[in-house]
Amino acid sequence: MLLSAIDVIAGYQPDLPILHGVSVDVAKGEIVAILGPNGAGKSTLIKAIAGLLPLTGGRITLAGQSIGGLPAHRLLHAGVSYVPQIGNVFTTLTVHENLRVAAHTLSGRYADRLERMYALFPDLAAKRRQPGRQLSGGQRQMLAFAKALVTEPSVLMLDEPSAGLAPKAAETIFEKVRELAQGGVAVLLVEQNVKSALRFSDRAFVLAEGRNRLAGTADSLRADPAVADIYLGKR
Ligand SMILES: Nc1ncnc2c1ncn2[C@@H]1O[C@H](COP(=O)(O)OP(=O)(O)OP(=O)(O)O)[C@@H](O)[C@H]1O
Ligand SMILES: [Mg+2]
Repeated sequence: MLLSAIDVIAGYQPDLPILHGVSVDVAKGEIVAILGPNGAGKSTLIKAIAGLLPLTGGRITLAGQSIGGLPAHRLLHAGVSYVPQIGNVFTTLTVHENLRVAAHTLSGRYADRLERMYALFPDLAAKRRQPGRQLSGGQRQMLAFAKALVTEPSVLMLDEPSAGLAPKAAETIFEKVRELAQGGVAVLLVEQNVKSALRFSDRAFVLAEGRNRLAGTADSLRADPAVADIYLGKR
């Protein structure tokens, strides 16, 4: 596995863990969904892996090397990129400025990388001089996505990239995610929509109350009535 999180214990206060030993992993070129009801700890897990929350237990490895406890900027350099659930676009900066800020977290030339983003997201290319606040919800998600990609990560984590989007915009996002995975990126995807998540991912982990509840291939989980029961709080 390219990235493994093993028995992660983390939370927002040291004496109040939200994750009570959660394990997930993702291989190169794979899309792995993290599912579970509201408050299950999905975003907390992604934040812990992204280096935004301290670990009080467990291990996180990238290509076999320990990355647990590294700060977020070090993780970006190591190739782990993250699109948060909300607040991922600077509304007063233009599309281009947003991308430049994101690209600046890495040293070296970034002009080529920006052009690659515009090739990948033609809607953003057309709006490059417009401020973030003038983008539609779908375009904002695209920009957030492009900001995470401009660092050319090997692991991309997306927290509910389709939330609040029209079906067509959501579909476009998922198609881009699929393309990236085909190009070798390991994708960890948090999704509220179980059906589309299990359609787009290779494997999934279902969490509830800060613990692993189910895991398996997307195909096996699609056929498993236990998934719906977990969402309904029945088990
Ligand atoms: N910034 C925070 N400070 C303190 N507690 C938090 C914070 N963010 C989340 N929590 C708590 O952590 C628990 C898990 O929240 P988390 O956001 O990880 O859930 P989630 O699975 O992403 O849910 P959702 O589907 O609603 O996004 C919840 O009980 C929540 O109240
Ligand atoms: Mg969340």
